Amino acid sequence: MITGLISDPYIISSTVLVLTAVFAAWKHSELDAIPTVGSTTWLGSYFSAVKNLSGVSGLVQEGYDKHKNALFKIPTLYTWIIVASGDKFLDEIRKVPEDHLSAVIAGEDVFKFRFTVGPKITKNMYHATLIRTGLNRKLAALFPVVNTEIVLACDEMFSFVDDEWKSIMAIETIQQIILRGATRVFVGLPLCRNSAWLKFCSEYATEAFVAGAKINLFPEFMWPLIAIFVTKKNSLTRRAMEYLRPLIRERREKWFQNTHTENQADRPEDFLQWLVNDGRETSEWDITQRTMALVFPGLDTISTSLLQALYFLAAYPEYLKPLREEVEALVHEDGWSKSTIDKMYKMDSFMKESHRIGSNIVSLVMMRKVLKDFTFSDGRVVPKGFYIAAPGNAVHHDERIYDSPNTFDPFRFARLRGQGQDGVKQRVDSSNAQYLVFGLGKHACPGRFFVSMLQKTTLARIVMSYDVKLESGAALESFKRDEGGLFMMVDPTTKILFRKRTQV
Ligand code: HEM
Repeated sequence: MITGLISDPYIISSTVLVLTAVFAAWKHSELDAIPTVGSTTWLGSYFSAVKNLSGVSGLVQEGYDKHKNALFKIPTLYTWIIVASGDKFLDEIRKVPEDHLSAVIAGEDVFKFRFTVGPKITKNMYHATLIRTGLNRKLAALFPVVNTEIVLACDEMFSFVDDEWKSIMAIETIQQIILRGATRVFVGLPLCRNSAWLKFCSEYATEAFVAGAKINLFPEFMWPLIAIFVTKKNSLTRRAMEYLRPLIRERREKWFQNTHTENQADRPEDFLQWLVNDGRETSEWDITQRTMALVFPGLDTISTSLLQALYFLAAYPEYLKPLREEVEALVHEDGWSKSTIDKMYKMDSFMKESHRIGSNIVSLVMMRKVLKDFTFSDGRVVPKGFYIAAPGNAVHHDERIYDSPNTFDPFRFARLRGQGQDGVKQRVDSSNAQYLVFGLGKHACPGRFFVSMLQKTTLARIVMSYDVKLESGAALESFKRDEGGLFMMVDPTTKILFRKRTQV
């Protein structure tokens, strides 16, 4: 999506303004104490930033190689990002309150929620609280309905698969399954099975992402103006309301704030109902935008990272057997449940290793906007207005942290658990200075427990029912390395072949 933006006329028209903004940022003298990666001249920094529009991973890796456990800065189009790594610095950032280093404003600046989804989303992040207090505590109770949805979606998506190898468009298939499972918990039945709604959710996420990325090409003072031309927020909200309005009305009438106790038995247990009950937002418009804040950017990320794992499985089908043995033994003992999924250590490790080595979504994580000048313990100062972040991918490929970091070793985390190392730290939904897929600290992704339940359940179902391999001639060559020479990416044209399970 980003590549097409580079030739976008908006880039050309913004050049002069951006040069001015970069120059203003570049001449900030406090930042001189922090080494620069990329060009050290202001014009060079600008071109460095343009070159890295499609992902800053190359620069971040270069900086990390030179400044491990230290600070360095990289240019973006209109500002500097100060990149920090190592337990000490990350811990310092983690402990600072939101009104000093803001995760919420940084997230807003990256995704432009107020222009792409709705103006209230990051003013009050109560949906994150609902995820932490509602969703996360009810995961075990919600497992059966999510599991049913995944089974039904897999049956539909793989209905044409028989004893012969059949190729599938993996991204579409995985997206559909994930959308069904996730929106079961977001908006419930029957909407989660409505194909027009599912299609709309994909479109919504793409539209919002592209609009946010276009706005990002401009300096901050131009964002409201550019947003008028590039976002479809209002029309997207209106379309989303066509699906959600009847549900919101029904839920208000029947189950609002537990007043009609006689109906409680069939009260829906999903995010939309929690929103209605919460009552902090009352208009259908606001509730719709709040619901869509879960669709973007979460859903696309779940699908692409699960797809990554599926590609690894197809590239290394020898791991099907040990995964099957694990799933079968546990399900035989306890049936399908959240606690069964939690005990699938090999499956968990497989997913985590796919995130670690394959993910292209975490070049920079734990992004924080500096709201008041921030001083690191070594005395260096990051002035107000700049950003601080951690180098996710680079950390995940550090040989001092991971043995043979560029090798796909799917059971490495299961082995560490077996060796008695901290089990919680080895989990795919953990978050620490060595594993940054979900960020770190108070603002670490609250959706990660749900994400990993959904992804592991889907992969377990696939492993139990199908053999998979890459299409003929495609093997590791189909994973290409990006400019930074680090993470493995899926070649999106590569097909995965499926057939009904033949091996034990
Ligand atoms: C594979 C999928 C996902 C990945 C890799 C991911 C990753 C992240 C990361 C890196 C952050 C920022 C953490 C930080 O700054 O320290 C974040 C924040 C957040 N994520 Fe996720 N996420 C995923 C899916 C989801 C889903 C499905 C939901 C919703 C159910 C969700 C809800 C959120 C929210 C609300 C925040 C903001 C939290 C806050 O600022 O307090 N995420 N996510």
